Amino acid sequence: MHDTSIALLNTAIADEIAAVHQYMYFHFRLDDLGYAPLANMLKMTAIQEMQHAEMLAERILFLGGEVEMKVGREVEKIHEAQAMLDKAKALEQESIEMYNKFALQCGANADSASKKLFEDLVAAEEGHWDQFDRQSDFVKRFGERYLALQSFQAGPPEGGAAQ
Ligand SMILES: [Fe+2]
Ligand SMILES: [Fe+2]
Repeated sequence: MHDTSIALLNTAIADEIAAVHQYMYFHFRLDDLGYAPLANMLKMTAIQEMQHAEMLAERILFLGGEVEMKVGREVEKIHEAQAMLDKAKALEQESIEMYNKFALQCGANADSASKKLFEDLVAAEEGHWDQFDRQSDFVKRFGERYLALQSFQAGPPEGGAAQ
């Protein structure tokens, strides 16, 4: 009945899983660089993207579809914090544009609940974009050393790679 929605929801899950992989990669790379607070931010964001995938999967099951669990793209091996933040912002921007389109498509197909789910995800991804933009701005203004000093002031890493 809602085959189009199911296909859109599966496309979104592939995007979320790719984000989980990319942000996990950034998390342990940043942790290795000694940038604990930013590493923790990426870890927490990866967990939120996993929760998005769950929400999308629940909606697919409700609609009687199959959850494909494909991975949208390969992880990009980026080693510098500024380049990671640029990539993360670009990923969020792509998700925001895609989910806005998907919300409109679901609305046009009279599937209001899927439309609302995509709208909620747009708001969540805008929040992610904003947090990455803030960090990117700080690094541009104060240099990458800011991230190390931030770590130093924060004391021992909380929620870092060891947890
Ligand atoms: Fe997400
Ligand atoms: Fe996101």
